[in-house]
Amino acid sequence: MLKGLVSLSLSLVFLSSGTIVLAAESGYVARSNLMQNIRSEFSVLARMAQEKIQFDESLAESTRLTLLNLAASAPTIFEDNELPINSEALPAIWENWEDFVSKSEDFEFALEGIETSTLIDLRSSLGNVGATCGSCHQKYRMK
Ligand code: HEC
Repeated sequence: MLKGLVSLSLSLVFLSSGTIVLAAESGYVARSNLMQNIRSEFSVLARMAQEKIQFDESLAESTRLTLLNLAASAPTIFEDNELPINSEALPAIWENWEDFVSKSEDFEFALEGIETSTLIDLRSSLGNVGATCGSCHQKYRMK
């Protein structure tokens, strides 16, 4: 029932012409897109570390740089505190804004520490990154 309502209101947004671009770039939608991009880039590195895809130093390094760019944009994208019912963001983000930004910086710091020169290095440096996702989600994302 709830899901039905969500998709109904989303389709209404996309039906009213002219609002499409705005809807795609604001608030929850922008946050959700950012996080989904972060997940899909991160999974390239995770699958490489698990040898589900072949180790490739240049792909690993370019993925790391893409992740750094995405991470750097997080504070700006999260400034918009719009909270539709389908959002998993907690109001605590905007009540503890500096802490939220510092968790985002921890994430960047961990990404800077990823070593992409060998498979062994990649493996051993990736765990730190996963920990920073979890530490932010634990406090600021609904479970
Ligand atoms: C600084 C805080 C922070 C960090 C770091 C962070 N996230 Fe998130 N993430 C959030 C918040 C808050 C939400 C909920 C956003 C919403 O629903 O409005 C979220 C949502 C998500 C979602 C759901 C997106 C959707 O709407 O479908 C995924 C997937 C995700 N994060 C993956 C990751 C991964 C993987 C990492 C690390 C590589 C990561 N996140 C790092 C705060 C963070």
